[in-house]
Amino acid sequence: MSIDFTSVNHAIERWGKRKDFLIEVLQDLQDHYRYLPEPILAEVSKQMEIPLNHIYEVATFYKAFSLVPKGKYVINVCLGTACHVLGAVQVLSSFEREMGIKVGETDKQLHFTLDTVRCIGCCGLAPVVTVNEDVHGKLTADKVENVVKRYQKEFKKETEKKSE
Ligand code: FES
Repeated sequence: MSIDFTSVNHAIERWGKRKDFLIEVLQDLQDHYRYLPEPILAEVSKQMEIPLNHIYEVATFYKAFSLVPKGKYVINVCLGTACHVLGAVQVLSSFEREMGIKVGETDKQLHFTLDTVRCIGCCGLAPVVTVNEDVHGKLTADKVENVVKRYQKEFKKETEKKSE
């Protein structure tokens, strides 16, 4: 089976082949695949003439990159001090229960990945959770079900649109 490297070509056309832009290239590919597949990294290495082991060093150093598939929605529960004091641990447990996954895991349907962060700078909204780019503030354990349902609905809608 031949692999389509169009995504790599696009990212490199956009940023160029200079080593300084490796992170930007990887970011585009992470956004495209929601993780960094091994053959894709090998192609980046070939086209940018950067040793593969260096690419892996970068890809494993930054939390924004993943070498395993992530869900369409990445949920980050803030466990910084302000959020912790106002019940972030209960919010996190509620997400785990609602989705049947633990921190660092992705569900089988690749809907959700659950993770934690340390202060995202909106302490006034504590406890705070981000779902991709969306910020949900003043969350309580009993509001979690609605948040999860909202993104399940969005996922369903998008899947239906694609199959039309
Ligand atoms: S501690 Fe959670 S946003 Fe600052």
